[in-house]
Amino acid sequence: MAEFKGQPRLPEFAVPKHYEIRLKPDLSSFRFAGSVAVDLDIVSSTKAIVLNAAELSITSGSVSFSSKATSEVMKPVTAEAVEADEILILEFPETIPLGIGVLKLEFEGILNDKLKGFYRSAYTINGETKHMAVTQFEPVDARRCFPCWDEPALKATFKITLDVPSQLVALSNMPVTKEEVDGSVKTVFYQETPLMSTYLVAVVVGMLDYVEDHTSDGVKVRVYSQVGKADQAKFALDVAVKTLEFYKSYFSIPYLLPKLDLIAIPDFAAGAMENYGLVTFRETALLFDEQRSAAANKQRVAEVVAHELAHQWFGDLVTMKWWTHLWLNEGFATWMSHLANDNLFPEWKVWTQFLGEFSDALRLDSLEESHPIEVEINHASQIDEIFDAISYQKGASVIRMLHNYLGAEPFQRSIASYVRKYAHSNAKTEDLWTALEEGSGKPVSKLMNLWTKQKGYPIVAVSLVEDQKLKFEQSQFLLNGAASDSQWIVPISSCYGSYGEHKSLLLESKSGTLDIKEFVGSNVVEDSSVWIKLNVAQTGFYRVKYDNDLTARLRTAIEKKYLNDMDRYGILDDAFALCMARQQPLTSLLTLLSSYGQELEYIVLTNLSNICRTVQRIAADATPELLNSVNQFFINLSMNSAKRLGWDPKQGESHLDSMLRGDILTTLSLFGHGPTLTEANKRFQAYLDDRNTPLLPPDIRQATYVAVMQTVSTKNTWGYESLLRVYRETDLSQEKTRVLGALASCPDPDIVLQVLNFLLTPEVRKQDAALGLAVSKEGRETAWKWFKANWENIWQTLGSGSLINRFIKAIVSPLASSEMVKEVENFFQNRTTASTSRTVKQSIEKARINAMWVESIRKETKLAEVVKELANRTY
Ligand code: BES
Ligand code: ZN
Repeated sequence: MAEFKGQPRLPEFAVPKHYEIRLKPDLSSFRFAGSVAVDLDIVSSTKAIVLNAAELSITSGSVSFSSKATSEVMKPVTAEAVEADEILILEFPETIPLGIGVLKLEFEGILNDKLKGFYRSAYTINGETKHMAVTQFEPVDARRCFPCWDEPALKATFKITLDVPSQLVALSNMPVTKEEVDGSVKTVFYQETPLMSTYLVAVVVGMLDYVEDHTSDGVKVRVYSQVGKADQAKFALDVAVKTLEFYKSYFSIPYLLPKLDLIAIPDFAAGAMENYGLVTFRETALLFDEQRSAAANKQRVAEVVAHELAHQWFGDLVTMKWWTHLWLNEGFATWMSHLANDNLFPEWKVWTQFLGEFSDALRLDSLEESHPIEVEINHASQIDEIFDAISYQKGASVIRMLHNYLGAEPFQRSIASYVRKYAHSNAKTEDLWTALEEGSGKPVSKLMNLWTKQKGYPIVAVSLVEDQKLKFEQSQFLLNGAASDSQWIVPISSCYGSYGEHKSLLLESKSGTLDIKEFVGSNVVEDSSVWIKLNVAQTGFYRVKYDNDLTARLRTAIEKKYLNDMDRYGILDDAFALCMARQQPLTSLLTLLSSYGQELEYIVLTNLSNICRTVQRIAADATPELLNSVNQFFINLSMNSAKRLGWDPKQGESHLDSMLRGDILTTLSLFGHGPTLTEANKRFQAYLDDRNTPLLPPDIRQATYVAVMQTVSTKNTWGYESLLRVYRETDLSQEKTRVLGALASCPDPDIVLQVLNFLLTPEVRKQDAALGLAVSKEGRETAWKWFKANWENIWQTLGSGSLINRFIKAIVSPLASSEMVKEVENFFQNRTTASTSRTVKQSIEKARINAMWVESIRKETKLAEVVKELANRTY
């Protein structure tokens, strides 16, 4: 049977049609027993049946195949579990009759603690530790719960039965049809599902509370939580019901299952999972506490709920054919969640906030180690790593670009017809393009293939030339300075000063020109008050490099507030990227930053903050003697916002101001602003004395914790110890996350070391160990040494998936010297696996880019002069 080993895909002899699955989890021994009966269609002559199974022991003698055609019952001569390939090979004594038959087998497995397959999650009730049993199957872990054909295109119907302790709640994709109680055990039977993929099957068993509502067409919606947290489920419930109605109208098809459950799971690796009819979440992504959660937490809940509900159509009803098309799921759901949230919460300006995600995508995609949206997958272990900013944020960005190009109405109409056509079935990227092409009459495939089949994106250099013309030239934008021959069809839009005119064109070759006489009159070259902005509202997935003349005009326009928020954002973000790529000096970026001193808009200011923080870290390496002036400049730049927002929430203030306050205070703390640090410590003390003090509302808690950590050292550990106490005492996951996100920002490397060790203790759930981990610049190299020394332990604790990759990225990518890069390369030489290799390569590339950036800044001769001048400005 050697021919079945080492293959990326299952052989196609047998096609599963229906599964009857029975599972009996034991929450004290952490084991489970199960049986499965699969209706198979044997479609080609074979002696072997090959299916997926991993970490399951098949009960010997339990395997049988009964052919419907011949009524023959066959037993395999061998049943070989090949763990390396996660398959089970059943070899029969003779050829299996074609047509339908039933494969039966029994098995046992472990309720593991790895947050995948069928696993256990711990929670406490009245101080007592309890466990729930939970499944997480995407991408390839259904095989850890029951033997199956674990590929997304092999859709089947599922009938599930659970044997559980009678006092517990047991949930699955479909409603319960019947329950039989037999003393301490009950058997729960569920309705059969519609056709669906294995990765969407789900089961949860535990002590649970819920709140309930229903949609206008009678779908019963419940949000489940641990006992005692049901009040925190109300916000998500409201969002879920309204979002279902919104999608029903957008897709022109209602939600098709009779019920929808959303459930908060205390231990959960991802943010949430769109299991059909039973969506699982980490607590921070579903629960909202009116008193103790922050505005950002509220927005996160709405975003994640909307994202997972979008999958109920785009992913669950229509599923990708293979993981190469994962982006169809994730890119689309990411885009769609913004559409839904914008509809529910227009004051959040989620499309403006989307630019943050747009930048995440541009950042990752400017690495040579990026990958195309449609990425080749040859082994199951490669799939985890493509749940990244390319599949999600770049995917969503190219959909936004296309939506803008085709128009909202044709786009929606085509999506609805695509969903109708592929409902209960599978589709690939090309199928979506075909639907959009038919619905819009525009050449969608030709345009989009360039964006999804090749990695990277262009930067368009623009200059003003004689005869009132704009000249464009595209080339791939790479942070490491490498060149390529890649080209794209770039939808270029542009707007012009007070003329308010837009002009668009498709740039289909390397360079092009645009006559703008009719828009700007005849004197644009001489009249420097006319500014020109490309990529209006940043809808195109590219960057723009303006010539010096155009840049100067834009600077003035920004100061005079002539540009709208998305365009102000784009100019800033592109300039920052060009600086990091060493295509423009730091002095130009700093001069541009100084145009933003009057900025009020949330998304522009948060990006400004992020950029200032990165520049500060780089400057600390490149020119430590200028660090004080750099800090002073950034403090001055943040002062207007700081004064406007203060520490205390204003009556009736906007959601965005509530979120911004914490961001500005964090920035000021990181730049060492004395009064902020003092005030933070004072308010923190008040909070320690009374957790209900009005002096520390939820929106500024994390910022305060960061400020407190800036004043902690081995000589003064009060702040650190107090934060650990806050962490230990709270039952609110969002509060724990705030503390964890602040600890490593301490400038004392010895404290950073203590923090890192703390992250690996049982007090921190695995899912949170590297979540939002941002090590101070002073602690970076210590963190790397610690990482090397603890590698075995980290690997043992976190396993090979996304959890460890988060750690690798957080520790490696901030490094900024060529010596460190060498060390990292040596270290990973023989420690990289198929599931970490992309992350390792990307993180090393990022560190190398930092190192080159540091070197180039050291060579800037005018830097000191410019920084000192800027540090003296006020805004
Ligand atoms: N399908 C994913 C969950 C997932 C992620 C499964 C990685 C397996 C591996 C889910 O729809 C998702 O995308 N969740 C996001 C949240 C979302 C709002 C971006 C997540 O987990 O972060
Ligand atoms: Zn998703």
